[in-house]
Amino acid sequence: MIGVKRKGLEKALQFPCEKSGDQRLTPSAFFFGYSLFGFLRVRITHFFTGRLSSFLGNAESYDKKIYEFFLTLRFVIPVYLLYYRFNMPENETPILQVKELRKSYGDVSVLKGVGFDVEEGDLVSIIGPSGCGKSTLLRCLNALEIMDSGTISVAGVTLRRSEGEARVDPRFHNLAHELRQRVGMVFQQFNLFPNKSILENVMLAPLVVKEEPREVAEENALRQLEKVGLGGFAKRFPAQLSGGQQQRAAIARALAMNPKVMLYDEPTSALDPMLVDEVLAVMKALDAEGMTQIVVTHEIRFARDASDYIIYMEQGEIVELSDEDEIFTNPKDERTRRFLHRFL
Ligand SMILES: Nc1ncnc2c1ncn2[C@@H]1O[C@H](COP(=O)(O)OP(=O)(O)O)[C@@H](O)[C@H]1O
Ligand SMILES: [Mg+2]
Repeated sequence: MIGVKRKGLEKALQFPCEKSGDQRLTPSAFFFGYSLFGFLRVRITHFFTGRLSSFLGNAESYDKKIYEFFLTLRFVIPVYLLYYRFNMPENETPILQVKELRKSYGDVSVLKGVGFDVEEGDLVSIIGPSGCGKSTLLRCLNALEIMDSGTISVAGVTLRRSEGEARVDPRFHNLAHELRQRVGMVFQQFNLFPNKSILENVMLAPLVVKEEPREVAEENALRQLEKVGLGGFAKRFPAQLSGGQQQRAAIARALAMNPKVMLYDEPTSALDPMLVDEVLAVMKALDAEGMTQIVVTHEIRFARDASDYIIYMEQGEIVELSDEDEIFTNPKDERTRRFLHRFL
């Protein structure tokens, strides 16, 4: 079919290649050279032969120059496109995007249109007074709680609901399930199963949700426990561990699902002060590895040292979002100033 077409075209346009003895026409030549050339040739030849040939000399040879020019383009354009493709700026879509997120319980509006982006590898701290909606925000991000309206995107999965949408359709539930697989969550109260060893705790979700083979799940679980410094504690039960160790086991459990983003809801609030640092150290190590993390915390010093930026929330709204130390030294909003005053 194409052959026939090509023959027809060649004939119609009388490509100079035929004259120069090059009978074969490759597809790339056809698309990058001849099609353009053929089109222009008809026009340009008409123009030149009609008006300019007399003083430009042989129109045929001029034709050939134009043809050679397009022949060069045939190589230059793909090379340029390749160059452009590989020198494009990094994919800058944030790994997590939240837009106009709203959530109410009955008449109480808990999140009043929250929005922010998190770039891959960032550590973001969320601070704010008790009851301002921090936990609700994290629970919505993990689809443990279904937002009333707004958009949440995590690593390519987007949940969207519009205002007044009464029913949650099955598609939303499927997407929520997808999203949960990309998000690891760590709670204040560890929430480990007390009747299982920490190894079994860490293996459980990969076995059940991902249906990983037992050996694979176990190997991965041991690797995660190693990572949080509990390599030698795999067979212990939660009750045989300190709070700090239990929380680190909970982090390993979340990591075992290979999440794209980790969420922590006051991960150190239930710990003795002595044990706080070992948990924060794990989060810092994960940050160094490039894990994306969002931490609701009262550890202002940690937030200040370790975060890429800080979100200050009050009454269901983001009051201030800052990637500079400025939020501590010179907060823009009076409410932030009042809150941080107690810590500094
Ligand atoms: N399941 C729920 N039902 C009703 N009200 C809730 C529920 N969860 C949270 N709230 C209310 O939402 C507000 C924000 O709670 P929360 O997100 O836990 O705040 P924070 O974590 O910042 O302390 C609080 O006033 C709380 O009482
Ligand atoms: Mg909370």
